[in-house]
Amino acid sequence: MNPRQVFVASLRREEVPYTPIWLMRQAGRYLPEYRAVREKHSFLEMCRTPELAVEVTLQPLRRFELDAAILFSDILIPLPPMGLKLEFFESKGPQIENPVSSMKDVENLRVANARQDTGFVGEAVRMLRKELGDEKALIGFAGAPFTLASYAVEGGHSKDYAKVKKMMWNQPEAFRLLLEKITDTVIDYLKMQLEEGADAVQVFDSWIGALTPMDFKEFAFPYLKRIFEELKQYNKPTIYFGTMTSGFFNYIKELGSNAVGVDWRINIDDAWKIIGDEKAIQGNLDPMVLYADREVIRKHAKDVLDRASSFSGHVFNLGHGLTPQTPIDSVAFLVDFVHEESEKIRNSR
Ligand code: CP3
Repeated sequence: MNPRQVFVASLRREEVPYTPIWLMRQAGRYLPEYRAVREKHSFLEMCRTPELAVEVTLQPLRRFELDAAILFSDILIPLPPMGLKLEFFESKGPQIENPVSSMKDVENLRVANARQDTGFVGEAVRMLRKELGDEKALIGFAGAPFTLASYAVEGGHSKDYAKVKKMMWNQPEAFRLLLEKITDTVIDYLKMQLEEGADAVQVFDSWIGALTPMDFKEFAFPYLKRIFEELKQYNKPTIYFGTMTSGFFNYIKELGSNAVGVDWRINIDDAWKIIGDEKAIQGNLDPMVLYADREVIRKHAKDVLDRASSFSGHVFNLGHGLTPQTPIDSVAFLVDFVHEESEKIRNSR
């Protein structure tokens, strides 16, 4: 089996010779070759130029034996065509110039047409599929409705989510319309990526942990479920990833995704027991472990592999993205360790 087959088969919970691995934010600032491209281009320019997005997507695969590439882009890319003015700043990250706060603002947003408005993403996926051939898998992605809505309302990163929660509770009709429009945009955007050759797609719900379970059920669940239902026709694996989601697992297992990404705040076997063994699980090493000594990396990675070993369908990953100061040697060490150790564990059964 080649890495592409191992990755896809694992998400389908089929028997595989070793545990496949990819890392969220595997293309990024911890790589000098990324910084070199970034010196010459803005982040948005990199996302919007297929040749640059392809180059940066492939960079980590030249260094490490990763099983899959993840398209280089950002979850916020579909927002500008909806009518939200997006910029990225070195210091404070993404900022939306005209965040929404009323029904009228939401009514003025449009549902984006993936191919017309973000055709550069489809083009990058098509080019990557050719570059990767049959050897390596390609993961497409989008942001989840609640996380994207948080950006649309807060205008950027938020500590307490005060504005978005206020809108959710005090203006539920406006908030629901916002979620609907984002959901329609995301569905079209993910369909385009699957049609252009992505082997799997991941939906990133980075800020979902801010909600109560009751609000998750009302303001996240129905929209996520609709996304995964609409993608079933492609017969390609789907992954739902969020952080601080342990309190929602009983809902998440009903979402219709093939796999669930979990963070490091729960043991992966405990997560699996709640989510159920008919789903694949992705995760869940604390990304900060990569700043520690080899022995620590080995100990934590082995713990994840051992806990996952009695289930089928483990895809190794971090519990959240790689950070800019991560030592490159540690990433290489982790990737090789996961492959070798998971093969050993299988052979000793
Ligand atoms: O995983 C990958 O390698 C694929 C590319 C990818 C990026 N962002 C590249 C990026 C993906 C999948 C994302 C998703 C994303 N973007 C999320 C969800 C995942 C998560 O990390 O929680 C979120 C919340 C965003 C929004 C975003 N983009 C923020 C908050 C920031 C600024 C924070 C930071 O790290 O600087 C970005 C910028 C960003 N997205 C960079 C990269 C490589 C850094 C841009 C730069 O070069 O300056």
